[in-house]
Formats: sequence, C-alpha cells, structure tokens
Amino acid sequence: MIYVYLSGHDFRYEVHELIKVFFFGEDIIFIDNIDKYDGEGILIENTLNCNSKGIDSTTNVYRNNKLIFKYSVENIENMKIEGNNTKKRIRIGIKKGIYEALIHVSDAQAPWGVLTGIRPVKIIHNLLDEGATDEEIFDIMTNQYKLFPEKANLILNIGKKQRKYLYPLDENRFSLYVSIPFCPTRCLYCSFPTCSIDRYIDYVDRYTDNLIYEIDKISELMKNKSISTVYIGGGTPTTIPVNQLEKIIQAIYKDFGKSNIEEITVEAGRPDTINRKMLEMLNRNKVDRISINPQTMNDSTLKLIGRKHNSREISAAYYLAKEIGFNVVNMDLIIGLPSEGVEEVKTTLKEIEKLNPENLTVHTLSVKRGSKFKDKMSEYHMESQHIIEEMLEETRCFTHNMELNPYYLYRQKQTMGNFENIGYAKEGKECIYNIAMMEEKETIMAAGMGAVSKIFYPLENRIERVPNVKSLEEYLGRTEEMVERKLVNLEIK
Ligand SMILES: C[S@@+](CC[C@H](N)C(=O)[O-])C[C@H]1O[C@@H](n2cnc3c(N)ncnc32)[C@H](O)[C@@H]1O
Ligand code: SF4
Repeated sequence: MIYVYLSGHDFRYEVHELIKVFFFGEDIIFIDNIDKYDGEGILIENTLNCNSKGIDSTTNVYRNNKLIFKYSVENIENMKIEGNNTKKRIRIGIKKGIYEALIHVSDAQAPWGVLTGIRPVKIIHNLLDEGATDEEIFDIMTNQYKLFPEKANLILNIGKKQRKYLYPLDENRFSLYVSIPFCPTRCLYCSFPTCSIDRYIDYVDRYTDNLIYEIDKISELMKNKSISTVYIGGGTPTTIPVNQLEKIIQAIYKDFGKSNIEEITVEAGRPDTINRKMLEMLNRNKVDRISINPQTMNDSTLKLIGRKHNSREISAAYYLAKEIGFNVVNMDLIIGLPSEGVEEVKTTLKEIEKLNPENLTVHTLSVKRGSKFKDKMSEYHMESQHIIEEMLEETRCFTHNMELNPYYLYRQKQTMGNFENIGYAKEGKECIYNIAMMEEKETIMAAGMGAVSKIFYPLENRIERVPNVKSLEEYLGRTEEMVERKLVNLEIK
C-alpha cells in the first residue's frame, strides 16, 4: 500500500500518475491528514512552500514509519521549461522532486521521467516554436523532465522530422477521419468501440447510409477550408462488404475531390478480412496506404489473442497487396503479448524482414479497461519491465537495420512497463494523417460511431474535442445530432 500526503497544493491526478510508474498495480491512497498513515507500507509526503525566497517543494519518503529518502527542489519559479506558465512550472517541480525521491526507493525504471501524458513530442514542438536549440531542448528534457537521454533524443528527432508536415500551421486545413466500427471477432486486448460483424451485419446498409450523410454534411460545413488527408479506420473497415466500402470511399471523393486529398489510408487490419476483390477495389479507388496488421507472427499467440488468422495468411495478404500495386503498407505489432518473450519477438521480426513493409508501428501492450484481457490477466504470464525493454530493443535494432525511421510516438495509460508506441517509416513514406492527429496541430473532422472530431485553435495552441456517440444504435438514431455538435463548435470558432 502506498500512502500519499500532499501539502500546499492539490496536483493529485498528476502525482498519482507519476507514482503509478514506480509502483504499477499497487493501491495508492491519498490521505488528507498525515496521522492517517498507520506506519505500514510506504508514505510519500510532498510539501509545496511559497515564500519571499521563492517556491520550493520537498518530498519525504517513509517506509514502515522510518524516513528513507528526502529530496527538495528549490526556486521552482526559475525552472527552465517551455512557455511562461508558473502553474506548469510548479507542477513539473513537484513531480521532479517526487521522481528524484522515488528512483531511490523503487526498482522500477522511469525512462520517460516525470512525463505521464500521451503526447511527449508536443513539448518538443513548443520548444522549437520558441527557438530553442537542440542542446537546450535536450537539457530541458533530461534535467527538468528527467527523460533518459535516449528518449530525449528520440522525441527531438521525431519532432524535427515532423515539422515539414505540420508547419506552417493553417487553421483552414483539416483532415477527415471515418470510422467503420465492425470486426470479425474481438481481440483479447482490444477496448475500441467495435461491433461483431456476425451480430450486426443487418445494420451495415443503414450504417453506410448514415455515415455518408454525415460525411456529406461535413463537406458542407468545411466548404471554405482545404482538406489534407483522409483516414478510414475502425474497427476493421475491410470487414464490411466490398461494395459498401467502395460507396463510402466514392462519397468522400465526390464531396472533397480526389485530387485535393494528399493521402488516403484504409486500415485493412486483419488478414481474415482481406481478399483479392477487396484489395483490387481499394487499388482501383487509388487508396495510397493500407494496414495489414500481424500484431505477432507466432500462430499460438494469434490464437490466444483471438485473431482468427495465422501468420501464413498475414504474409499471403501482404504479397497480394504488393502484387496488386500498393506502394505503402503499414504493419502493426504489439510487444508484451501474453506468452511472448524475446524469442517470440525475434521470430516475428524475422518474418517481417521477409516482407519488408514501408511502415511498421510497434505498440507496447496496454491493459485497458473494457478489454477481455483486463478481467483475465491473472490467467496469463506477463513479462517484467526488464524483458519488455529487451523486446523493444530488438524492434529498435530491427527497424534501424531495415531503414525504418521513427516518425511519430505516443504513450498510453496502463502500458506495460510504462513504455511507448512508435510509428516507423521508410524515408518519405510517413503517414501524414498520423502526424497531424498525434500532434494536434490540425483540425480533424470525424464521422461515424465513436469518432472524435478535434477542432484546432492555432492561436491558443489547443484543440476542442467533439465526440460522436459510441454505440451503433445510438449513432444510427442520432446522426443528425452528431452533425449539429460539429456545427455548434465550428460556429464558436
Ligand atoms: C485501432 S487498432 C485496430 C486495427 C485493426 N482493427 C487490427 O486490429 O488490425 C490499431 C492498433 O492498435 C494496437 N492496439 C490495439 N489495442 C491495443 C492494446 N491494448 N495495447 C497495445 N496496442 C493495441 C494494435 O496494434 C492495432 O493494430
Ligand atoms: S484490435 Fe482491431 S480487429 Fe481486434 S477487436 Fe480491436 S479493432 Fe477489432
């Protein structure tokens, strides 16, 4: 049990997220009176002091009532970070003090330092916007945010690579996300709002019509703006019949003009939804980029995670896509799947090497609420943080050798070992949508069940989320309202 007592501030959420990095899976209890610590387990006491000499924060860590570590951060108001926001400095200063104390009392590694948010590259963009040099950025990321040097270099390089796709910022530019929330079966780890095609097949016609209605309306709302990219995701869009998916793609082209769209991706995803007819339709409709996602190339794991396809089918789908003429194929992998260790990852990478895809996205397993896995976790053997790091190192060496360079990165809550997800691409084959969406520097208009629009305000450097409903029946009954929601937000803008 970890007890936490905060004094002089109430950054509970941020402190909780940081402590979780060091004590993953343990109960963390905030107490409002230090006497409530009964002397058992660990107590983390953090105090913020503001006086005429400046702002400082002190962290004391007790184990079984005995002080085992103490750390103070002084002159927080002068800390060198991005922007000019004292509240943010205080938050980072407090977290830095807690971090410095906890690395001495926990065995866990914290390669991302005090960063617990999901988009660390955003900080790099803010610093580059302020004119900081590479050295200054590296210094801030390692000394203030406490990132391991390799993580600081990684996100600095990713940020610099992304600049040409994001800048100059343009409030009139937008991308379109289209959600097709159907899948053949539900994967063990998945928490996305998706529907089983067997159960909901009779809804696909109506879904297609409502989706096209929403896309048409978005094109009216955005008629004076310029479209950048389109991403058709899910779920697994290729689960629905070929003619329905074609109808959706052609509606997009009719509304926005194919020649205005810089890049269009279709997440084909699972090999058990891919066949010649589907791929020929996508190719005929000039789709630039598709995903064929193995997750792993080990058949026993594929079975365990409920994918209902084997590794041979993954390779066959890939070769078929290449024969038909797709220039960019992305493949998603997950590291840390149950029953997988370093040898299994090596096997997967050996198979991927033969395929040589233009994009590879390496996720670290995240144990999400709402997934079947969360309830059944105790039935599986999960690897330690140390082994996950070894597996990720294999993927780093592999991508380096295959000339696949990291170009976007994000983190998720509940990720095993507190690691990250990285998108790799061969030079010039980066997915522009992924960059825009991840860095939140462009408006995303989103259609379909569970889709979230994000309206970008460049002057304030922020986005406003406008979510659609997450259930199929609700979406079908309330499509007009989903359009209205967007209209209201755009009018405010
Ligand atoms: C939106 S999902 C769907 C893609 C497609 N339906 C498929 O499964 O192939 C995109 C990717 O996120 C990753 N993913 C999904 N759930 C995850 C989890 N719990 N932990 C880590 N990665 C996850 C998988 O690699 C997946 O391919
Ligand atoms: S991981 Fe992909 S295929 Fe599996 S249930 Fe989730 S969205 Fe569907």
